[in-house]
Amino acid sequence: MKVKKGLGIVLSLLSTVSFAQKAIPQLGKSPVKEVIAAMTLDEKLNIIRGTGMSASAGTGPVAGSISGKVQGAAGSTYAIPRLGIPSIILADGPAGLRIDSTRANDPKRYYATAFPIGTALASSWNTELVKKVGKAMGNEVREYGVDILLAPGMNIQRNPLCGRNFEYYSEDPVVTGNIAAAMVAGIQSNGVGTSIKHFAVNNQESNRNNVNAVVSQRALREIYLKGFEIAVKKAAPWTVMSSYNKINGTYASENGDLLSSILKKEWGYKGFVMTDWFAGRNYAAQVKAENDMLMPGRKSEYRQIKEAIDNKVLSEAVLDRNIERILNIILKSPAFKQYKYTNQPNLKEHAAVTREAAAEGMVLLKNENNTLPLKTGKIALLGNASYDLFVGGTGSGEVYKAYSVSLLDGLRRAGFQTDKKLSDGYKTYIAEEKLKQPKRTNILQTLKPVTEKTLSGEELTALAQNSDLALITIGRNAGEGSDREVEGQYYFNTEELNLIEKTSKAFHAVGKKVVVVLNIDGLVDIAHWRNSVDAILIAWLPGQEAGNSIADILCGKVNPSGHLAATIPINYSDVPSAKSFPGVPAERPDSAVYNEGVYVGYRYYNTFNVQPAYEFGYGLSYTNFTISDIKANSTFAKGMTVTVNVKNIGKVPGKEVVQLYLSAPAKTMDKPERELKAFAKTKLLQPGEIQKITFALNANDLASFDSKRSAWIAEAGKYTIKIGNSSRNIQQTKTFNLNQELVVEKVNNVLAPQSYISEAKSNQ
Ligand code: BGC
Repeated sequence: MKVKKGLGIVLSLLSTVSFAQKAIPQLGKSPVKEVIAAMTLDEKLNIIRGTGMSASAGTGPVAGSISGKVQGAAGSTYAIPRLGIPSIILADGPAGLRIDSTRANDPKRYYATAFPIGTALASSWNTELVKKVGKAMGNEVREYGVDILLAPGMNIQRNPLCGRNFEYYSEDPVVTGNIAAAMVAGIQSNGVGTSIKHFAVNNQESNRNNVNAVVSQRALREIYLKGFEIAVKKAAPWTVMSSYNKINGTYASENGDLLSSILKKEWGYKGFVMTDWFAGRNYAAQVKAENDMLMPGRKSEYRQIKEAIDNKVLSEAVLDRNIERILNIILKSPAFKQYKYTNQPNLKEHAAVTREAAAEGMVLLKNENNTLPLKTGKIALLGNASYDLFVGGTGSGEVYKAYSVSLLDGLRRAGFQTDKKLSDGYKTYIAEEKLKQPKRTNILQTLKPVTEKTLSGEELTALAQNSDLALITIGRNAGEGSDREVEGQYYFNTEELNLIEKTSKAFHAVGKKVVVVLNIDGLVDIAHWRNSVDAILIAWLPGQEAGNSIADILCGKVNPSGHLAATIPINYSDVPSAKSFPGVPAERPDSAVYNEGVYVGYRYYNTFNVQPAYEFGYGLSYTNFTISDIKANSTFAKGMTVTVNVKNIGKVPGKEVVQLYLSAPAKTMDKPERELKAFAKTKLLQPGEIQKITFALNANDLASFDSKRSAWIAEAGKYTIKIGNSSRNIQQTKTFNLNQELVVEKVNNVLAPQSYISEAKSNQ
């Protein structure tokens, strides 16, 4: 009897246990809210933070490495196996997947493709192409077992000195937003996520963790948030990364106005927000502000947030709200779906994608007397970068690629001859100089380029006699953590200027031409030496196929079709933010006051009649195009369709970038003289071929942000559509009327600057 009773108790206990086990909610099988309700506080405090970075990373704020599933990824999230919640892996970054290429006791290599930098991709103005790059990049993300790529970077290029401009797209929010949306769509088409970053106003690296960006509400809405708004609404990125800096006094990651009111409520964003690595100070404030995930994860966050809950400063319901967003994304991840990744993405196929994309982003600035494309012949290849190209930036955007193609190799493969003695001399010089450089100890370090090799007058004269043309490549690199200098980085240094001047003198003396290729991360001075040379091509940091991509353009295999996505001024001092960048005090700015308001880039140059060296939207081709037959209604009702015809009137096939600007009435608010509202890239048009381009304008495109009314307002009056192939070369115009003012959208009155900006400027 006793035995029977004992057995009964055991059996009933067992059934309780199995009943209890069955009852534990599982992610994917039970409603997310039930999964959250089953979490302990400890689990909640863990899942809202990353799992930390391994000590071996040792690279300051940039995540160098996490160990485990994907070595070298930037972070991972906390797994709760009892609730069916896996850990997901996050890795950088904009120009390709950054993971370690080698692993201990493993002969296999885990290379990723180094794609062109963001600025290069944006300069293609080709959203289909960018999508294709994203698709290839996202495939590597998925096949290496990563769930979310920490990309794209999409801050506005407010000033050419920002050290991370290379990761960003443009000075204009419409280019930025549409290129970012294409990139997000491409990456996410693989079933992996993105993190658009750095939200928001992270336009400099100087004191990036603490600087207070003081910006008018109008400039925020129209310039600094607009690109993010476009990307969020068009492409629904899985995650958003908040930025390090403060905006009008509050850290972005602690800023509920930014993350809750604008991003989540106004824009209807459904994904989750993560901090940038180690960002912000007040973790409970981050959680409250709907910064859902704290990265890369620190013990102090756990302690501080628990304390806030114990002291009833923060309610557990707030944690639950954030966790729901995180779980909804985890549900979509390859990790959750137990995707069997191969560790073998098709790198060969992706090399072809990067080669094509890099070439299409290159911008031909000058081409006197059809210097380019080059005919076959012997090239005097000068400039260190011709032998040692920079293919990508440093910092979290650095990619561990299998190889990179030098310009020398690219040109040789394309059938050009070069001077062996010259190339041997350069190679030896560069190798020797590099040995003298300090060793790079972490990925935040960007080593200075090797000083240009000096060639004597006799050497140059001999080269001029023995070659058909001189090609000089000037290189610049930049990375995360610091901004660039005006002298020596923006402006060329003496050795570089000497090389250009002396080469031009020697070659022009014997009737031979000089081409300059700019292998640059961001804008440099061109106005002060451009008259000495015959052709100038911006190749940017073109990714691992660099030499092939450049050769494709130089020899005409690819007709250049890149256009500038930022203005190149005549002098650095012309830049509207020159006086206020990077803020005060300059060495370590506490604040950066955006006095120029909405007049960023071409909005400033065009409105205030400041002549640039090369305007926004500018780029040459080996052929010519006409834009004609504009058609649009003369009155704006709900929306409007605008069409033009683009014709290739030259002798070779080519693509054109068609840009639609709008000049709006400025009776109640002052307005930029014109603003880009839409753009399109033609297909490859054969000589004589015509393509009809159709643009759609809606009420949003007519509106400016009136801070006094906290609303997007389209003023009544006359609007002028201006269509061209640059912001200054307008070929078609058409006016239309808006009969009555439209209050297009009323929004929250948030993010007002507390100080610094004068009343007069607060509505600019
Ligand atoms: C960078 C981010 C990057 C993160 C992780 C930070 O230093 O600002 O862009 O995604 O590190 O590596």
